[in-house]
Amino acid sequence: MVTGLTLSWSGVGVAIPTASGPKKILDGVSGEAHAGEMLAIMGPSGAGKTSLLNCLAKRNNEFEGALSINGRDIRSDDSLNRSTAYMNQSELFLPELTVREHLLFQAEIRTDYDAAAREQRVDEVLAELGLDKVASSLIGDAAGEAGDHISRNERKRLNFASEILTDPSLLFVDEPTTGLDSHMAESVVKNLRALAQGKQKRTIVATIHQPSSDVYRLFDKLCFLVDGRVAYFGRADAAVAFFSKIGYPPPAHCNPADHIMRLFVNPNDPAGSAKRRLEICDNFAASALADKAEQGEVATAAEAAVRRELGTPPPLPVLMFARFALRACPLPCAAPGSRFSIRRKKTPGLLRRPKRRRSPAAPVLELRLARAARRSTATCGC
Ligand SMILES: Nc1ncnc2c1ncn2[C@@H]1O[C@H](COP(=O)(O)OP(=O)(O)OP(=O)(O)O)[C@@H](O)[C@H]1O
Ligand SMILES: [Mg+2]
Repeated sequence: MVTGLTLSWSGVGVAIPTASGPKKILDGVSGEAHAGEMLAIMGPSGAGKTSLLNCLAKRNNEFEGALSINGRDIRSDDSLNRSTAYMNQSELFLPELTVREHLLFQAEIRTDYDAAAREQRVDEVLAELGLDKVASSLIGDAAGEAGDHISRNERKRLNFASEILTDPSLLFVDEPTTGLDSHMAESVVKNLRALAQGKQKRTIVATIHQPSSDVYRLFDKLCFLVDGRVAYFGRADAAVAFFSKIGYPPPAHCNPADHIMRLFVNPNDPAGSAKRRLEICDNFAASALADKAEQGEVATAAEAAVRRELGTPPPLPVLMFARFALRACPLPCAAPGSRFSIRRKKTPGLLRRPKRRRSPAAPVLELRLARAARRSTATCGC
């Protein structure tokens, strides 16, 4: 089993056919999730959270953009599929089975372990999810009353348990807290966090609608999506600073998730919130250039922004110009996989610029980008 997986995606776009032509439900979405980390994809209903999760989990292969694990392209490589698991919102259990019987049955159909190994794996998973005390209890129906039936929280944990039987290193979870009260939601997310931070250092990507502040704090990274675009991607504890910096500081004692969601959706002012959504996404696209250069992470946001502007994969000189035009870090630095690739020389800290070859279309494209740059208020944070 492959462990310690870093999942990266860039320029992810999905268009669905509608009567009035293709509709973009994801547009230039980029990000990264590391081993031992829990990433939450948040955003209003219809923002594209599940659509993104389905692309990342390769449940939908009809998307544009790049997807890699530990730097290896996995769009057309299924060899790592066994290291991943996807947990649906719905739970499918036979109420007549006990917790242990359910897991033994799942182990039989999902793994190729022999009987002794299955027993051992089921015991491990029961212990990992704190289900050993209810191992002999009947699952019962969804009402989950005490006694013969396991509780709703235990049902959630049993759902996780079924998925981690195969010992996946990468776990995708769609809306694990929907329908749970805040206390139970927190407990379920704590379980997920324990799965990420256990000795196996799993990578966890979960969609979540609107978490309480306690749940919000449990995530390492956030990806806020609105209208299929990224409004924020980065460390959870830096999100409020980003929104404050672009003019939206939270009121005192406010749940950060509630504050950010209210920026995106205000039922009393739909036109105003639509304008604000656009503005925030543009601001993030511009700031991401600087931030990511600063962190030495993926700078595919630049590529995605240019792609959006031009509609086609841009030539390298145009990409470089975009970076300068958007007033990001003056060095064309970025992470592996980006077309602004970092080539470290022997002397640490020096970056070699890629060879410049001028495309015949560059002057026209540069003009358009220069106009976009003038409209942008972004400044480099380096
Ligand atoms: N197969 C499809 N056909 C048509 N429209 C689709 C399809 N899949 C998704 N959509 C649309 O794409 C948008 C994003 O859907 P998605 O399910 O990803 O949103 P979400 O953020 O997960 O929402 P929710 O919080 O309600 O689960 C929505 O407007 C949805 O109606
Ligand atoms: Mg969804």
